[in-house]
This record gives sequence, C-alpha cells and structure tokens, in this order.
Amino acid sequence: MKIAPRAYFGGEFCIPGDKSITHRAILFNSIAKGEAEITGALLGADCLSTIECMRTLGVRIRTDQTSVYVCGTEDLRDASCDCGNSGTTMRLLMGLLAGKQVRACLYGDASLSSRPMERVAAPLRLLGAQIATSGGKAPVKIEKAELRGCAVDTHVASAQVKSALILAALGAQGQTVIHEPLLSRDHTERMLTAMGADITVEGTTVTVRRSGLRACHVAVPSDISSAAYFMALGALLGETICRNVGVNPTRTGILRVFEQMGVNYSLENERTVCGEPVADIRVKKSALRGVRLTRELIPSLIDELPVIAVLCAFAEGESVVSGAEELRVKESDRIRTTVEMISAFGGDIAERPDGFLIRGKRKLRGGNIDSHLDHRIAMSGAVALAASELGGDIAHADCVDISFPRFYQNLNEGTGGVLHV
Ligand code: S3P
Repeated sequence: MKIAPRAYFGGEFCIPGDKSITHRAILFNSIAKGEAEITGALLGADCLSTIECMRTLGVRIRTDQTSVYVCGTEDLRDASCDCGNSGTTMRLLMGLLAGKQVRACLYGDASLSSRPMERVAAPLRLLGAQIATSGGKAPVKIEKAELRGCAVDTHVASAQVKSALILAALGAQGQTVIHEPLLSRDHTERMLTAMGADITVEGTTVTVRRSGLRACHVAVPSDISSAAYFMALGALLGETICRNVGVNPTRTGILRVFEQMGVNYSLENERTVCGEPVADIRVKKSALRGVRLTRELIPSLIDELPVIAVLCAFAEGESVVSGAEELRVKESDRIRTTVEMISAFGGDIAERPDGFLIRGKRKLRGGNIDSHLDHRIAMSGAVALAASELGGDIAHADCVDISFPRFYQNLNEGTGGVLHV
C-alpha cells in the first residue's frame, strides 16, 4: 500500500465499532437467556472469528450489514474452534468454556500460537478448570470440570485475563474474588452487570457470585483505538472529528497523553449509551511536546502506543515510554516493530526492555516498512507516512482488516476541504 504525503488532513470520520465491546456482546449473549441484537458491531476479522467459534459451539448467530443477532443457549457442544489472529477470542473463550461441561480445543494462526496462554490457564486452574496449554501457548484444550470460587490474583493488568476469570466465576460454586495489579478495561464488568450478573467492583478487585445472564441489546460505540489514527492525523495535519467514540475512562489514556503533549482536542456531545460513556472527539493541528509515560497509564492506552510513538517522533523534545513490556506479547513484538517502523522513516528511537526512548524531530522523511501482519503497526505507519516528507510503502498492509476494514478508504477520504460540523 502506497501512502502519499499530505500537506493537510481533515474531515469527519465514521470509525468502526469497538472491538472489545463487540467480542463481549457476542460472547456473553451466546450464553444468555433470550435473543439479542448488537448494532454498530465491528465486523472485522477478529470479531468474525468470535462469531465462527460460537457457531461451531452450537450458538445461532445471524448477521446483516449493520447488526449481529445472537440467540443464546445453555447447551454448548464439544468443538474445535479457530480463533484466527484474535487473542481476545481465545482468552475469553478459555474462561467462558472452563465450567460449561464441554470438551473444546482452541487454536489460532501463527501469531496467536506464539502468544502466552498460561496467564489465563493457570488462574483458571485455581477455580478447578481442567485446561492444558501446549508449552504455555495454543492450542489450548479444555475438559469438563466443576468450578468453585476462590480468591485469585492476576499478575498482569490484562482485561483478557480478568474477563476470562469473571466468565468462569459466573458458573463456579460460591464467590470468586479477582484482584488485578492495575485497573484494566472494564467493559466485561459493565456489560455483565447489565445482563443480570452478580458482580461488585471495588477499585482493582472484582467479586463475582454464581449467576445466570439474560440477553441484552448492545449499541456498540466507535473504537477509540481505531479513532486514535484519525485523531493523530488531526493533531499532525489539520482538523478531524470522530463521532460516537467510546470514552470509557479505562480506555482514554491517549487523551491524558494529548494533554501532556499539548494537543488541542475537545470532547463534544458527551453521553452514556448502554452503560458506556460516548462522545465526539475533535482534534486540531497542534505544536507537540515530548511526554513521559509510566506503568500506571499503560493499560488505558496499550493498543495506542505505536501511534503515540509516531506522535512523539514528530514532537519537540524527548519522550520516554516505560512499564510497557506487555507490548512484546501483542500481535507482534510491538516494541521491536514500532522501533523498526520509526527508524525506517528516519526517526530517532531506541528500544528499551519495557518501552522506548524517542528524540522528536518534528519531521520524518518517510520510507518503506513491513507491517509484520500487525494491524496496529500498519495503521500507525500509514499515519506517519501521511505526515512525512516523501511518503512510502507498507508491505502486508491488508492486515488492517483485523480491526478496521475500511481504514485506507477513510484515509483517502480525508483530503481536506469541507469539515462538516
Ligand atoms: C483487550 C484487552 C487488551 C488489548 C486487546 C483487547 C480486550 O489486552 O490489548 O487488544 O478486549 O480485553 P490485555 O487485556 O491482554 O492487555
């Protein structure tokens, strides 16, 4: 994919549905009583993997262009499930299936098969789950088991690990108390509460008692992790508005970064939809300063770090990201692939074990990169190239289908001209 440099970029963008919320709406309604309509769902490759897995397990799911219809069931069947590239699908399914009296095998593509799964399997075993990984990774095999609640510490601030435990706890005898080191995204707690689950949250501790779920219609907001690319383009090149974006405080670390970097942004039409805060986000071209990001902020912007690194490369002064070693176990080793991308474009970035150090240059030359089949590297690279002097080329650019199938079309639409307000 060739990306041309732009002198200006602006416009109003319709960003696809939130990936985390779409996965959850499909998974949770699959085991609830009744039928649910999910509107604004993301139909990217990851969420399609979740739909296919649930169909293989015996759940009736229909889709049309705008909605997903899920007919929940208590009787899942034994199955072998292809989770594709999707860590959320595999990890949440591990918890969902652990106490469901089914035998299942979960497998995925080469990237997913290289990612850690014991972080979910080990705490699930404390509840009595019969679950085996292959040397810590996929394929994962799940056997029938009766679960009982207990106290569990997740040793990593991961919403995927926490959500798997909450799902298993719904079917466990008694009470399960889950404690995480830092607060990760809380869409699971919000949605399950709306579906009738007995869940209480106090800081970083979630207490779950055995409960059944009733179907719940979900209107999925746009994904702030996808909006982030168009927000960054506004900050670098003009003015952008992304409508109807989810601004759950466990996801808005990028806005805290914008404040530190001096990005001129505003939230408009703030409202709550299906228990999730939503707003329109307007971002204007700004003089950027370097930032220091430390561990506490990382869970709230984990998926945005590659595009934040791009902004830092265009900023005045030095930026340091630390406490972000989780990036090494995403769809690619995102510390390495981000460093490789920014270096290839002529930026000054150094790899650190838990992040990176960037000396901002205010300009990048441009150049060619490989996405390493990582959607967020491809999209961050496209943003950097659009703002670069010469533009360049992205190999394996199609992987944006994972979370943002129309990304390049949207990028072409933002040619400047009329900004609708
Ligand atoms: C996700 C949680 C995050 C994030 C991923 C989606 C989720 O992973 O990186 O893209 O939907 O729960 P971790 O919770 O493992 O950090």
